[in-house]
Amino acid sequence: MSKANARLWGGRFEKETDGLMLDFHSSIRFDQKLYLYDIRGSQAHARMLGDTGVISQEEADALIRGLDAVLADIEAGTASFTLDAEDIHMNVETLLTAKIGQTGKKLHTARSRNDQVALDTRMYAKDAIGRIQERIRALMETLLSLAETHAGDVMPGYTHLQIAQPVTLGHHLMAYFEMFKRDSQRLRDAYSRTDVMPLGAGALAGTTFPIDRRQVARELGFGAVSENSMDAVSDRDYILEIMAAGAILMTHLSRLSEEIVLWASQEWGFIRLDDAHSTGSSIMPQKKNPDVAELIRGKSGRVFGSLMGTLAMMKGLPLAYNKDMQEDKEAFFDMTETVEKCLAAMTPLLAAAEFRTDRMAAAAARGFSNATDLADYLVGKGLAFRDAHHTAGTLVARCVRENRGLEDLSLAEMREALPPASEAGDPEGIFAPDVYGALKLENVAARRNTYGGAAPAQVRAAVERAKKWMGHGAS
Ligand code: ARG
Repeated sequence: MSKANARLWGGRFEKETDGLMLDFHSSIRFDQKLYLYDIRGSQAHARMLGDTGVISQEEADALIRGLDAVLADIEAGTASFTLDAEDIHMNVETLLTAKIGQTGKKLHTARSRNDQVALDTRMYAKDAIGRIQERIRALMETLLSLAETHAGDVMPGYTHLQIAQPVTLGHHLMAYFEMFKRDSQRLRDAYSRTDVMPLGAGALAGTTFPIDRRQVARELGFGAVSENSMDAVSDRDYILEIMAAGAILMTHLSRLSEEIVLWASQEWGFIRLDDAHSTGSSIMPQKKNPDVAELIRGKSGRVFGSLMGTLAMMKGLPLAYNKDMQEDKEAFFDMTETVEKCLAAMTPLLAAAEFRTDRMAAAAARGFSNATDLADYLVGKGLAFRDAHHTAGTLVARCVRENRGLEDLSLAEMREALPPASEAGDPEGIFAPDVYGALKLENVAARRNTYGGAAPAQVRAAVERAKKWMGHGAS
């Protein structure tokens, strides 16, 4: 067979592909990551072709064995991919035919690269979700054990990055636990729509051969087969969903990173990072930078970029397959690898960090984080909340001027801030010695004893619920 174009699809071409174009449209540089999925998918396809009689059993066996040999060559580094063969699918087929001869050319019966690439990418996606889930789990375990240790350690809680009310470090860390729990749930949900087997859709319309799609799905461990062949080859929702879940996850990692950067600063001094997770400066000898956290914060940008780029790439595509969709892979691979690496970096960083709970307690004590409790105390004594708020605010203003804490005021000084006597009642009865107990930070935190609140008892209960969610103690 002589032809002017030697590509696998070269039959109807009278000229060779332009060299520049070949480089431009070849995806082998990045889609070679899919080699294992491509080979396993092809083996399942070959077995099914043999079982349904589309090819003979001997041919199916030869294809399956040949693909194993190609896999061994690839893993040994002795197989070479070529731009000429464009993508991983045609590279594997080319290597197979070089190895086993003419039978190799039967592999692509009843299949198109369009359903093949959808299959490979879904297989990659399922494994990637599994790897990310494991990393999320490890991070959640670390957060959980730190939260348990620090369930009772008071620290300032912030709104507007201004000290608001005291919380505990355990409560703060469990907030992140909840975020990563949702991330894990989102990925589990995305998995259910990823776990759909597209092979058999052919180029777009199905195939004329009597194939058995369910057999292929069973062999490859898919939970379902796709319902519509056109959708099967043009659907990239599962990639978008995983990217979106990854992007949201990165916002959580990035916020945690931002807090770590702040906490590691001299001004906060809430955390000391292990030397193994920090770097120095080439010029300033005193520096110890939290750059692992900074990098995680920075890498969130590229994950968002992957999602945005892929959404934009998909939005104008007519059905069914379009080559634009080849652009999904670099973004998707980069996204999954970045998320995995960031999770893998955050877990030991947190586990090895030293939380300076003394500094946290001192900061909570400095920031009038007990002012709401002073107002609540006054409400308990019969004041309307608005009056109570005003009285406490007046006392805060005085303390700011005099550089004191609310608990440093005498009862007489406190009483000066009350509204005109008649309205509020007897000042002596309102501000009584029990106010000092109400202002104590431990009590302030402990009093937020509502479900999901910051009280140490609530944090411990939350930790117990979280352990259950993680499956601790279950056999
Ligand atoms: N390399 C291609 C991709 O990643 C495989 C599918 C190509 N199909 C085609 N008809 N050109 O999307």
